[in-house]
Amino acid sequence: MAHLGAHLAFRARWQKTDHDLCRHSMSFILHRAIRNDFFQSYLYLLEKLPLVKLYALTSQVINGEMQFYARAKLFYQEVPATEAGMMGNFIELSNPDIQASRKFLGKFVGGPGQAGTGCALDCGSGIGRVSKHVLLPVFRRVELVDMMPAFLREAQTYLRAPGLGVENFHCRSLQEFALPAGRYDVIWIQWVSGHLTDKDLLAFLSRCRGGLRENGLVILKDNVAREGCALDLADSSVTRDMGTLRSLIAQSGLAVLAQEEQDGFPEHCLPVWMFALCSDPLRHA
Ligand SMILES: C[S@@+](CC[C@H](N)C(=O)[O-])C[C@H]1O[C@@H](n2cnc3c(N)ncnc32)[C@H](O)[C@@H]1O
Repeated sequence: MAHLGAHLAFRARWQKTDHDLCRHSMSFILHRAIRNDFFQSYLYLLEKLPLVKLYALTSQVINGEMQFYARAKLFYQEVPATEAGMMGNFIELSNPDIQASRKFLGKFVGGPGQAGTGCALDCGSGIGRVSKHVLLPVFRRVELVDMMPAFLREAQTYLRAPGLGVENFHCRSLQEFALPAGRYDVIWIQWVSGHLTDKDLLAFLSRCRGGLRENGLVILKDNVAREGCALDLADSSVTRDMGTLRSLIAQSGLAVLAQEEQDGFPEHCLPVWMFALCSDPLRHA
């Protein structure tokens, strides 16, 4: 309004002396009006559309970190380092989850031409629930990677048992984690892919490809949205639909060897899918 006032007050003089200045002054007012309208519309859309919220979360930075990631860290600071905490308080689903994972993994490891049983990496491991019940019974060595130091500290007690081969606890965010080349027979990524942006998930899956040994596999297990992608502001994660997930997998250069839906979960839960991914598209056949 101050600009409009100034414009009107000096209009007569400008018109006489400088048409251009008058024109520029008008365009300045117009510019401000459009900018204000745009900002109002943006705030409205921010409330209404999850994708606009995601844009804000991924374009704003807190202490040098993308807000999307900073908020997830804040969320997990409040999560207890227990099996129930890892299951988001759906502890009753842990057992069916483990049983289905073991069965699925068993189809792809240990046999001729299949993945070996030397070393597995548990990504977004938390306290190591998957490592303990699914990976350690199969692999001689297991490594964990998670961004929360408290979960990895707890993992050292939770996984302590004679003969268990936990080798490395990497305290890193997956979007920054550099996998050693050709090291892992299986890379397990469960209930964490939604915490990465599309760009970072794609890059991470591509790095996983490089981290696999001969005949190695990436196993991705996660919730899949029935329709469209959904943003969860509480824990700062996205649930992708099947098309989006498959497109990211394909772009990473990994091929889907098999995919299977988790059974035994209640109807009201989101569908959970397991994907066995390999770096050799010919194994797909
Ligand atoms: C829902 S818990 C699942 C834990 C484990 N995968 C399981 O199934 O029991 C998600 C885990 O992912 C970790 N996480 C979330 N975002 C991450 C990121 N960007 N990098 C590494 N870990 C992350 C959290 O700290 C937490 O331990």
